[in-house]
Order: sequence, then C-alpha cells, then structure tokens
Amino acid sequence: MRMVDLIEKKRDGGELSTNEIEFIIRGYTRGEIPDYQMSAFAMAVFFRDMTERERADLTMAMVHSGETVDLSGIAGVKVDKHSTGGVGDTTTLVLAPLVASLGIAVPKMSGRGLGHTGGTIDKLESVPGFNAEIGKERFIELVNRQHVAVIGQTGNVAPADKKLYALRDVTATVNSIPLIASSIMSKKIAAGADAIVLDVKTGAGAFMKSPAEARALAEAMVHIGNNVGRRTMAVLSDMSQPLGRAVGNALEVREAIDTLRGEGPEDLAALCYALGSEMVVVAGEAHSLKGAEELLREAVRSGRALEKFRELIAGQGGDASVVDHPERLPYAAFQSEVLAGEDGVVAEIVADKVGTAAMLLGAGRATKESVIDLSVGVVLRKKVGDRVRRGESLATIHSSASEVGRVREMLLANIRIGERADVPLLIQGIVEASPMAGVVRH
Ligand code: URA
Ligand code: CA
Repeated sequence: MRMVDLIEKKRDGGELSTNEIEFIIRGYTRGEIPDYQMSAFAMAVFFRDMTERERADLTMAMVHSGETVDLSGIAGVKVDKHSTGGVGDTTTLVLAPLVASLGIAVPKMSGRGLGHTGGTIDKLESVPGFNAEIGKERFIELVNRQHVAVIGQTGNVAPADKKLYALRDVTATVNSIPLIASSIMSKKIAAGADAIVLDVKTGAGAFMKSPAEARALAEAMVHIGNNVGRRTMAVLSDMSQPLGRAVGNALEVREAIDTLRGEGPEDLAALCYALGSEMVVVAGEAHSLKGAEELLREAVRSGRALEKFRELIAGQGGDASVVDHPERLPYAAFQSEVLAGEDGVVAEIVADKVGTAAMLLGAGRATKESVIDLSVGVVLRKKVGDRVRRGESLATIHSSASEVGRVREMLLANIRIGERADVPLLIQGIVEASPMAGVVRH
C-alpha cells in the first residue's frame, strides 16, 4: 500500500477501506508517513468528507494508536460526559455527583483548562486538599465504593489524534466534521466508558458557531459512538452567553453547590437535567428522558445529590465542609461591580469575551504552563433578556488586584444593552442514536 495512492483515492472522492485507514493511522503514528502526506490527506478529507463507516474506522484506528483505559474493574455500566467547550460551563461539577447519587458509575477523567474555557480538575482543586492525581487503582476503588471519582488525563491516550490535531491546526484542516468527530470520540472511547453523553455547544463561545454545524457534529459523534458499540446521545446547547452566572474556578464550585441544593441558576440547572437524563438513559437506569429527569430531581430534593458531592470531595482528600460553608473556598481580595451605562434590556453577553476577561484576571491559562488563581473570575448579575437600569450592576469582578480597568472595559463592551432581546433557546435539540444497518462492532 502506498500513501500517495490513498491520498489520491480520497482526493477523487473514493471510500477508503478499513485496512487502508488503519495503514494511514499506524504509519503516521510511527513516523513512517510524513507530515506533508498527512496534511494532503487531511485536506482531501476536508473537501471530500468521510462515510459513516470511514469515520468509525478512523476513530477506532486512533483509539488503537495508544493506551486504552481498562475500566472493567468497575461494576455496571460506566457513563461519561463530554462537552465541546464553553465558558463558565459548570455542568460536570454538578452532573458527576448528581448522576452518581442514583448509583450509576461515573468515572470522570477530566482535563485542565486552556484558553478561555475552564477545566473541571482546576475547579475541583479550589476545594482545599482535593487531589485529582490519585492513580488508577485508587480511582477504580473509589468509583466502586461511591460511584464517582475525578482523575486527570492519564497516559498515552490516542497519540495519533494528538499528532494529527497539531498538524490540522497549522494546515487549516481543523474545521472538518469527520476529523473533529473522530478526534473527540477517539479520546472518549480510549478513556473506557460504555456509554457517552455529549454536550455540543453552539454560539459565540463555542467551537461550532452555527446551529447547523453543531447538529452535524453532534450527529457525527453520536453515530460513531453507536457504530462502535458505545451507547451515545447528545444535547445541542446554546453557548452564546456563559452558562449560569459564575465564570472562574472557586466561583463555579459555589455555583455547583447551589445547583445541587436546587438553588442554582435556571439555565445551568436545566442543562444539567437534560444531560443528566441522557446519562441515566444510556446507563439503562430509565427508559425515558422524562422518567430519568424525575429521578434526578428527586435526588436533588432529598439532598442525596449534595451528599454525593461531599463524598466525592472527601474521597479525594478534600475538605467536604465547603459544601455547607462555601466561604471556606478561596475568595478573591477585591470585588468590584460593572455598572450599566444606560437603561434597557441585556441583548447580548458575548461568551468567549467573558471567558477571556476571566482569563485576564488569572482564572484561566494563556499557555499550558500558566499558574492560575482559583479565587478570581466574573459573576454575571444579569443575563440576556433581563431588564437593567443605568447604574445597576451587570457583573461582579472578583480579582486579586485592585486595578481592573481593562477587564471592566472588556465586560462593558461585551455586555450589550438594547431595547429588546432575542433570548436564545438554551436546549436546541437532542440527538439520539440511529445506528446504520450492519453496524461495525469493534
Ligand atoms: N477538540 C478535539 O479534541 N478535536 C478536534 O478536532 C476539535 C476539538
Ligand atoms: Ca457557570
């Protein structure tokens, strides 16, 4: 087999066989296929797309390029959740304990934040003593005991994707549905869960800006998951404005605690119930989303969800008393308000810009090496559609420095006040499995 022939085949719109796709990924991972040929191939895929079967094969070839996590030591169906990135997206902090409180195993492998999106591990580390670097054995032991644990990304997962993603980044081939879908799914599948729920964001803060693109990505990922034997569903959700009110690590832990108490922001709670319901259904613990949601709401009402959060924290060395005393979480030295300059209705809150503002305060990493400040961030006082009067607060800045002029300017410029607002629909759709005939089972 020669790479040049496979590039030509894809360039001319042909369909590659399973063997051919494995040849490409194996050769590229080993360094036998050079970057320039892989670049040409990625560009051919960009223009010619891939069939459903090719996408599943590409995903599994990337899964097999590295280590896979063996979760067979954990009893029952293991459910994972993945978000395509957002600003102030507090959902994982809420969902992990919420779903686990129903007795469903949620072994959560999570990352640290980069750029304007936050990472669940960083957020949890704002709880004094919390340790996410617990090793795989302890991780499995904890999930078996309390159904939930959170660990940092381990080992050499999908190295082919790592290499290809970096190449795509510099060859204008990131924005291709088959390449994004296989990239994300290869990492999820290698992480070992039996069932996967995806939160695919659309809007300014998201990877996929338009609803149509977001739906196509969600469908691509749901098909890949189901075609390779993992029950997968997706929610399409709005990320034109930040989710909830808090953006920043300790601030989001507080927000998660409120939400687990049933007192969280409406949009965050609604999305958590939507995603949580899918997690319960793919885990096989309910037959309908509606039935699943009722179970989740009862877990919040009864206090079981909050109790599970205490267990999650304590199990990994954290101070669980923060759940009842959030004032024990890191708190920034300075708070200052961003005041509205006019009367009106909040018409737009540009999510990625609010994320960047929080990053400038020190809540996020500009580079992988940056040290972050867990206490700082932004809390929105108004959301899109809210009425506001001149001089009223639009947002509170939590900072470690008294001078926040630049961040205030940035927030003022990106919280637009108008005469009326089109409030975006938070949940724009649900994507369920409809596996193709003659499913490939890897
Ligand atoms: N995130 C990924 O992990 N891969 C992509 O290709 C795009 C976003
Ligand atoms: Ca939030």
